Amino acid sequence: MRGKDVTLERVSITYPNGFTAVQPTDLQIGAGEFFSILGPSGCGKTTILRAVSGFVSPSTGRILIGGEDQAGRAPNARPTALIFQNLALFPLMSVRDNVAFGLEARGMGKRERHGRAEELLALVALQDQADKTPPELSGGQRQRVAIARALAVEPAVLLLDEPLSALDLKLRSHMRAELRAIQKKTGVTFIYITHDQGEALTMSDRIAVMNAGRVEQVGTADEVYSTPATAFAASFVGESNILKGRIAQLQESEAQIQTALGTFRARNPQRLAEGAAAYLFVRPEAMRLGGPGNTISGQLVRRDLEGPFVNLFFAAAGHELVVHQTNTGPLPSQPGEAAVLGFAPADALILPEGPLAATGQELAAE
Ligand SMILES: Nc1ncnc2c1ncn2[C@@H]1O[C@H](COP(=O)(O)OP(=O)(O)OP(=O)(O)O)[C@@H](O)[C@H]1O
Ligand SMILES: [Mg+2]
Repeated sequence: MRGKDVTLERVSITYPNGFTAVQPTDLQIGAGEFFSILGPSGCGKTTILRAVSGFVSPSTGRILIGGEDQAGRAPNARPTALIFQNLALFPLMSVRDNVAFGLEARGMGKRERHGRAEELLALVALQDQADKTPPELSGGQRQRVAIARALAVEPAVLLLDEPLSALDLKLRSHMRAELRAIQKKTGVTFIYITHDQGEALTMSDRIAVMNAGRVEQVGTADEVYSTPATAFAASFVGESNILKGRIAQLQESEAQIQTALGTFRARNPQRLAEGAAAYLFVRPEAMRLGGPGNTISGQLVRRDLEGPFVNLFFAAAGHELVVHQTNTGPLPSQPGEAAVLGFAPADALILPEGPLAATGQELAAE
């Protein structure tokens, strides 16, 4: 099997009722890449997959797979296969027959079909489950049958729409590693849709962060996590302490930002100008007890113990700040205990004011 590249050129998608679910979008997904589209419910992720697989047509722009324009091609004429959240396995058929199902339509003989099914079941480590039916399998095993079945028709591009969302937490994290391994082994291009940032960060070569029909950023997990491009991306991916403020002074690639809790130095990668309304983002793991760097005085409100880690919640001038740190050494434990919280300018990010994700907390007014 071999992956193909997928290109979206100014693709927008308006549904017949007039609602535009995807604004003009450019994306270049490499052959053999594990590419995730991450965003909240309703932002247009499934709509993009439908367009790539041929179930809806772009209203503007073009979709190319392996350099070939897919306009006018029916879903079964495209080199794609789709895995939905509900897997639609045939409950009365054996696992082997489920995997071989698509091959019969291609005129492959029974022996060859079964041989191919055995190969694919070995790929997803289910060779000893071939005679069972789907209801006799665990959720993760059923998921792997669905993957084997999708791969049976040798797609160049596998489209996965939140395929793990029905599984419990433990199985989900196990399946992340499995999916990644299967993708590496086959070299098939994966386009993986999720609203779970942990999934996107652990599995992907690159991630597109989407909000309200727009792609706000495309980058590696490290790029998206450490240098989000927008306030939305910064608040949707990972946790952050967020302070509202105004740029007070520029210093090369850094700036001073004035907030209700003081004036702090931070990275200013977009070179916002003096006086600009902005947000300051500091990850809880970048906050330290004590200095050096920027400092804020706070009082402990509560601590959440995670075992090896602890989250300490502080009040500072009426706002809540979170410090995430390893559970070692003497730490404040009594509510009301005073502490100095510090963060390095290199670990703090200034971004233009803009909509925040619903999960992001706005912690301090200007
Ligand atoms: N057939 C349709 N006609 C009109 N609007 C639609 C149609 N299908 C989806 N939409 C709307 O388009 C927007 C994007 O939907 P889409 O299914 O792509 O979201 P999503 O990002 O996959 O969300 P989720 O994470 O909930 O699956 C939503 O506002 C949805 O209500
Ligand atoms: Mg969806």
